[in-house]
Amino acid sequence: MLIGISITSYLIASVLFILSLGGLRNQETARSGNYYGMIGMAIAILVTVLNPNVEAYGLLIVALLMGGFIGAILARRVKMTGMPELVAILHSFVGLAAILVGYNNFIEPNALTGSELIVHNVEVFLGILIGAVTFSGSLVAFGKLSGRVSGKPVLLPARHWLNLAIGLICLGLGYWFVAAGSSQEAMGALVTMTVLALIFGIHMVLMIGGADMPVVVSMLNSYSGWAAATTGFMLSNNLLIVTGALVGSSGAILSYIMCEAMNRDFLSVIAGGFGTDTGSPSTEKSSEVKGEVTAVTAQEVADLLTSSRRVIVVPGYGMAVAHAQHTVFEIANTLRGRKIDVRFAIHPVAGRMPGHMNVLLAEAKVPYGLVFEMDEINEDFDKTDVVIVIGANDIVNPSALEDPSSPIAGMPVLEVWKAKTVIVSKRGMATGYAGVDNPLFYKENTRMLFGDAKKMMDEVLKALV
Ligand code: TAP
Repeated sequence: MLIGISITSYLIASVLFILSLGGLRNQETARSGNYYGMIGMAIAILVTVLNPNVEAYGLLIVALLMGGFIGAILARRVKMTGMPELVAILHSFVGLAAILVGYNNFIEPNALTGSELIVHNVEVFLGILIGAVTFSGSLVAFGKLSGRVSGKPVLLPARHWLNLAIGLICLGLGYWFVAAGSSQEAMGALVTMTVLALIFGIHMVLMIGGADMPVVVSMLNSYSGWAAATTGFMLSNNLLIVTGALVGSSGAILSYIMCEAMNRDFLSVIAGGFGTDTGSPSTEKSSEVKGEVTAVTAQEVADLLTSSRRVIVVPGYGMAVAHAQHTVFEIANTLRGRKIDVRFAIHPVAGRMPGHMNVLLAEAKVPYGLVFEMDEINEDFDKTDVVIVIGANDIVNPSALEDPSSPIAGMPVLEVWKAKTVIVSKRGMATGYAGVDNPLFYKENTRMLFGDAKKMMDEVLKALV
């Protein structure tokens, strides 16, 4: 009877997770998608805790309370700009859990023999391998995204050979581990593989350059799913297998979409140093950009905006940092009230996480009908009077299309320079995440509005009303 209830509940939770992913596909249904996920997870935890095999309730309650408390505090405190780091560190926990469950499963005595023991050992080996790569890779990604570790790709001379050697040694260790069964020798193989997998995870993320980080974030998301799925196999927990596979496959699809959006070859990104044919770090400047920039005041921006018929707003990471989204929407509303057509253009990797700008605009209550993806709006820039770029840089960099030696060469960008006038709101002349100079700022039709985006947008709004 209890087993029946548990199977049914796991099935319901799995369906809720699938509905959750479905809901998260677009903004209108994202909220309900989140609720499905929360209910599914609550059912999953409850059913697992009530499993008759669970004995150490004291420990479990302490762990649940501690985890729940830390999670609630983190969720309350995290700023939207800090979300990618938080996600990266959470992925590392999944990897660590897979390592711990794997070792526990190996050490715990079992009566398995023959093919059952082989399957068990393969599960343990794969679980720890994927878990270790996820764990150390996510820690480095956390460091890179939070600025604690340099965003420059670390390109060792024989990096591909190093990766290949680690892969081959792990394969050999896997064979040795499975053949050794449960002996002391097997433990040696397991520990050696864990150390190598940890090194591989660190090296894999270290060698990926700034502009390719979006792919790494979603790739580690995928790895954490596969780590969870292998944990599910070790624990014979069907729900963990289903959930892990859902996260693993959706993360892989997202990585593919990211690569498409950036015109990157998936395997090349993973191999590292893509876009740097010479093997030089992507932060190295390709062709030095020189020229004069034209600065404008908030009043001049307000005048330019009111005298236009079509305006496109391009938000970027700086808008998130400055929390300027609400004022930007007020500006858009004021202009729309004057019969000026205002739309928002979103680049797939704007900000620091997938959908970052969509979340910000939704938070500011910008109607979805005004928000356009890059492919939908890129052809309209030449029919636009004013484009206002707020805290964006790499996603509007013409050198991605015009300079084959640029580290971001080939990445599709919002072609804002085709508009009659481009206004760029940023604090100074600093580069963006990829560390690449931007010729847009020096173009004849570009006007620079220097200062914190929130402060400057407030001034523009004041000048408008
Ligand atoms: P970035 O290219 O990073 O440029 C942001 C710009 O905002 C900076 O040049 C900065 O210039 C400006 N800024 C910062 N704070 C500001 C403030 N308070 N007020 C006004 N401006 C401010 O951003 P983007 O154009 O959105 O491109 C995203 C980049 O991040 C891409 O290279 C992408 O590959 C990478 N990335 C994306 C993701 C995902 S999944 N979206 C994940 C990791 C990395 P100043 O300092 O001069 O103000």
